[in-house]
Amino acid sequence: MITRKSKREIEMMHEAGKLLAKCHKEISNRMKPGVTTKEIDDFVEKFLADHGATPEQKGYSGYPYATCASINDEICHGFPRDEQLVKGDIVTIDMVVNLNGGLADSAWTYVVGEPDEDTKKLLEVTKNSLYKGIEQAMPGKRIGDIGHAIQQYAEGEGFSVVRDFTGHGIGPTIHEDPHIPHFGIAGKGPRLKEGMVVTIEPMINEGTWQSKMDDNNWTARTTDGGRSAQYEHTIVISKEGPMILTDQDDESL
Ligand code: MF3
Ligand code: CO
Repeated sequence: MITRKSKREIEMMHEAGKLLAKCHKEISNRMKPGVTTKEIDDFVEKFLADHGATPEQKGYSGYPYATCASINDEICHGFPRDEQLVKGDIVTIDMVVNLNGGLADSAWTYVVGEPDEDTKKLLEVTKNSLYKGIEQAMPGKRIGDIGHAIQQYAEGEGFSVVRDFTGHGIGPTIHEDPHIPHFGIAGKGPRLKEGMVVTIEPMINEGTWQSKMDDNNWTARTTDGGRSAQYEHTIVISKEGPMILTDQDDESL
């Protein structure tokens, strides 16, 4: 069942989203060689607690950490750990913030040190893919329009789109209907309606889109060892156009 959120619910999710955006900006300052993703995870937990929020992912289906921290060929759901990051690593930090019952979900890929040209291109195409998807997130459009726009663009740039993980509705719980694939056929799938709140979160790979699961039964990584990047926002479908609840450029932050 796809639900539409009230103005009040959306305001609460927006408050969570602003805090999440602030947290990402703090993470960005901390992504240096020598830091560990466990330290980042501890920082996030403390930052959220200091602001009266909780990390919704911790304990969700038994997930053990506040953040997912996926390094290089890890696609998503990487476990934060004690290994030091080195120059050139790319790290996707994904988290869901719960502030007074309002949820928001956003992932961001960071580079440790200066990116080389290949890394710049991967990150730029992945971020553009997110915004190509967001442009389609309008009342009257269909879910397939989002995936189609992302796939056309990302594959046209020589990258592949992960199939095994999708965006999703979000509300009182992290994962609600509908699924939002980042690939697909224009004009197909359920129609988007005002008040729906969804995530768009393309995972874009250098090589194959195919993934395999680690022994921890959480972490997905590419089968060919190619790197994977991801940007994710939580979006409200509104007749004024897509409203990003997790915008890091929001001037009121
Ligand atoms: N934030 C993730 C997403 O985008 C949620 C992962 S579920 C978890 O869907 F349990 F791994 F946290
Ligand atoms: Co999500």
